[in-house]
Amino acid sequence: MFRPCIFKGLSPARCFSTSAQNSSKVAVLGAAGGIGQPLSLLLKASPLITRLSLFDIVNTPGVAADLSHIETAAQVTGHQGPEQLSDALEGCDVVLIPAGVPRKPGMTRDDLFNTNAGIVKNLCEAAAKTCPNAIIGVITNPVNSTVPIASEVFKAAGVYDWRKIVGVTTLDIVRSNTFVAEMKGLDVSATNVPVIGGHSGITIIPLLSQTTPSVSFSHDELGPLTERIQNAGTEVVNAKAGAGSATLSMAYAASRFCTSLLEAMNGKEGVVECAFVKSDLTEAPYFASPVLLGRNGVEKNLGLGTLSDYEKQLVESAMPELLGNIKKGEAFATS
Ligand SMILES: NC(=O)c1ccc[n+]([C@@H]2O[C@H](COP(=O)([O-])OP(=O)(O)OC[C@H]3O[C@@H](n4cnc5c(N)ncnc54)[C@H](O)[C@@H]3O)[C@@H](O)[C@H]2O)c1
Repeated sequence: MFRPCIFKGLSPARCFSTSAQNSSKVAVLGAAGGIGQPLSLLLKASPLITRLSLFDIVNTPGVAADLSHIETAAQVTGHQGPEQLSDALEGCDVVLIPAGVPRKPGMTRDDLFNTNAGIVKNLCEAAAKTCPNAIIGVITNPVNSTVPIASEVFKAAGVYDWRKIVGVTTLDIVRSNTFVAEMKGLDVSATNVPVIGGHSGITIIPLLSQTTPSVSFSHDELGPLTERIQNAGTEVVNAKAGAGSATLSMAYAASRFCTSLLEAMNGKEGVVECAFVKSDLTEAPYFASPVLLGRNGVEKNLGLGTLSDYEKQLVESAMPELLGNIKKGEAFATS
């Protein structure tokens, strides 16, 4: 029976395909959390997923039981506590990690490092052992540090493949598309703003000069819009007033990323998303940029295109913070 896409009105790239060709097992680690629950709901609605494995240290039996009643094909399993982690990861093609603490007002993403670094390290150690070929989508902040941590863990286990460790920065693109479409009166479903760099404050660099459809921004528009995109996460943190950070928009963004990834893994050509990956485009060993997705994760880094002088300046200003975040993650993982 045909069921309409639940994201009616969105372009196919942002909507689940209705013709699944292959079967895929996806795990969500941190599945009972603010991001984990709505993300799991969106994934349960995807015909691209045959098995959906939900892991958390609390509450996964309830979340899994609830989702398992939904009339879609994906078989849902719940796994709770470290002793059930390897079962959750067994046979996974994609592992999404939103486990860890979110920001409260006044905190930067780097303030989360002490708690979240260890969580990501432990989860990646288990993934490297149980599903070494899976593509790992790291959502947990600080992404600028947790992606290097994940990479070092896979290197230490002897199963590192740079194409398969990906920092999920899709929310920065989603926000940029929304803000630009609102400002310029564009159809948001056809608007695309690449976002490069990293995923915190000034390391988030929207390439407004490469917006499609092509639009121009006055000098007076450029600065405030760039800053709004860079601080959009803080807008949500402050509005939630202590109750956490972006969860619903992040769940949407992660499901968009996962859908793109699964479509590319199933053989669809020309699937592009921006993501924070191992990179030789700049002096930073990890850098977000548009990447072509394929059967093995990142097929090809598509580079930065032509940057405006303003954007070149943003990259230069971001570099010290980005390099520091990356070094901090690598040092933690290798200590
Ligand atoms: N990449 C992005 O763009 C982006 C956007 C928003 C939030 N985030 C980050 O995502 C993370 C999660 O945010 P949230 O709002 O869902 O937080 P949350 O506190 O609501 O949920 C986190 C979940 O992780 C679980 N958890 C903790 N330790 C775990 C472990 N060892 N194994 C498995 N699960 C564990 C918790 O039990 C909880 O259910 C935060 O680090 C946040 O900063 C990233």
